[in-house]
Amino acid sequence: MSSSGSGSRQQVFVLVGGTGDLAIRMLWPSLAMLDQDNFLSDSLRVISVSREKLDHGAFVTRVADAVKKRIGADLEGGTLDRFVRRISHIALDASDPTWGDQLKAALGADMSNLDVVFFLSVSPTLFKPICEHLRNSGLNAAPNRVVIEKPIGRDLASSKVINDSVAHAFDEARIFRIDHYLGKETVQNLIALRFGNTVFEPLWNAQSIDHVQITIAETVGTGERLGYYDEYGAIRDMLQNHLLQLVCLTAMEPPSGLSSDALRDEKVKVLKSLKAIDASNVLTNTARGQYGPGFADGQKVAGYEAEKGSPSNTETYVAVKLEIANWRWSGTPFYLRTGKCLPSRATEIVIQFKTVPHSIFGGEAKPNRLVIRLQPDEDIKLSLMNKAPGLTAEGMHLQQLELSLSLATAFDGNGSKPARRRIAYERLILDALNGNNAQFVRRDEVEAAWAWVDGIVEGWQSAYPKPQMYPAGTFGPVSAYTLLDRDGRTWND
Ligand code: BG6
Repeated sequence: MSSSGSGSRQQVFVLVGGTGDLAIRMLWPSLAMLDQDNFLSDSLRVISVSREKLDHGAFVTRVADAVKKRIGADLEGGTLDRFVRRISHIALDASDPTWGDQLKAALGADMSNLDVVFFLSVSPTLFKPICEHLRNSGLNAAPNRVVIEKPIGRDLASSKVINDSVAHAFDEARIFRIDHYLGKETVQNLIALRFGNTVFEPLWNAQSIDHVQITIAETVGTGERLGYYDEYGAIRDMLQNHLLQLVCLTAMEPPSGLSSDALRDEKVKVLKSLKAIDASNVLTNTARGQYGPGFADGQKVAGYEAEKGSPSNTETYVAVKLEIANWRWSGTPFYLRTGKCLPSRATEIVIQFKTVPHSIFGGEAKPNRLVIRLQPDEDIKLSLMNKAPGLTAEGMHLQQLELSLSLATAFDGNGSKPARRRIAYERLILDALNGNNAQFVRRDEVEAAWAWVDGIVEGWQSAYPKPQMYPAGTFGPVSAYTLLDRDGRTWND
C-alpha cells in the first residue's frame, strides 16, 4: 500500500540536515530541477532544519550556490528565483526537547491542512530522537511521512533497533527508506527490459544463463568520509544495499503489477533464497581487499591505512559469489564486486549466456552476453555472433558484434539536445511527495539483506580477518580473480 499524499492539503517538504553534505550535493539541486520541470505544487514549501544558525540571506545564497554548482548548465532563467521563494531555514538541535514544538510552530498552519514529508538527511543515530520529537508533537500524524537514508544499521540487530524506533512514530506504509540506486534511470529500466519484452523471459533462467556479474567500480577513495567508512567497509556501504538491490531486480520473478508491495514481495523472496555464506565457505566465496599506495582518479594515493593514520582491517573492496537457491537460478552463480580506487568508474550488470549446445563452427561461436550499463553512460548491449563479411578459402568465419541501445541518443529530449541525465534523488523525492513508496526499501528487505550479510561478516571475523592489499588504481585484490578462476570464468573488465 502506498500512503497517498496531499489531496487538497498544503504540501511541505521538511529537509532535516538541510545544510549537510548530501543536501548540498544532491537534494537541493534535485528539488530545484523538480521545480523547473513543474513537478512541485505551487504552494509547496521547503523548510530546512539543522543545528547551524543562518540568516535567511546566507541560507538562500548557500542553496542557490549549491544548485548552480551541480546543475547550472541545465537551469533555465527564472527557476532559481521561483525556487528560493519556497525555501526557509530554521536552526534546531535534536537534543533540545522542544525540537518538535518549535518545528510545529515554524510549520505555522493548522496541521489538519498540511501534508508533510520529513526527509531525515542526518546520521542514523538521530533517527530515534527525531522520530520521538515528531511523535511527541503530533507531527507524525497521517498523511505525514518520513524518508530515511542508509545506513540503516551496521548489522541485523542494529537495523532492527533503528526500524523499531522509526516504527514507533510512523506505520510502515509511511516510512520511505532510500536506496538511491532505485532512483537511477537504468535501474528502473531493468524492470522495463525484463517485463516489457517477451524475448528475454524464456531465457532468463539457469537453463540459458551461465552466470551473472554485477560490478560497481569507483575511482574515488573514501575521502572525507573515512571516519564513517572505517566502521562500515565496502560490504556494509555498498553490497548490503545497492548491489543486493540490483541482484533482486535482476533475479526476481515477474511481479503481479507495479504496486509497491507487488514489487517488494518479489524482491524479498530473492533475498530470502540467498544461500548462506559463513565461516565454512567464506574463503572460497568471497574476496576482501583494501587499497594501498598507487594512482587513482588522476591522483597519487597514499593508501587507506596511510590516509587513516593507523592500521585498519576495513575492506575497501569486496567480491562475492552469490547463489540463489530457487528453481529459476539454481546452478547459476551471481558474482558481485565493488571497490574504491579502481581504474575506472563503471556500474554494470552482465548476463552471460551459455555456449551453444553443439557448435558447427569449431570454437568460433562465443556465448551471447547482455551488458546493462548504468554508469557512467547508460546503455544496453547484446553481443551476437555473425558471419564475418567476405570470402575466405576455408569457408565461413564468425565474428562477435554488438546490438547497442544507447539511452542518451535513443531518447534525445527535443530532437537536438539529449535528454538530461537526472539525479537519482529527483525521482525519489517526487515519489515521496506523491506518497508512492514502490522504489523505497521495505523493512523486511533491509532485514533479510542484513541477515545474509551478517553471515559473511561473522565468517570473515574467524576465517578471513585481514583484507588483501591491492594497489590503488588496479582492479582489486588477486583473490577477486581467484574467485572466478576457480569456476573457470573471468571478470568482464
Ligand atoms: C553511497 C556510498 O551509498 O553510494 C558511497 O555510501 C558511494 O560510498 C556511493 O560512493 C556511490 O553512488 P553512485 O551513485 O555515485 O554510484
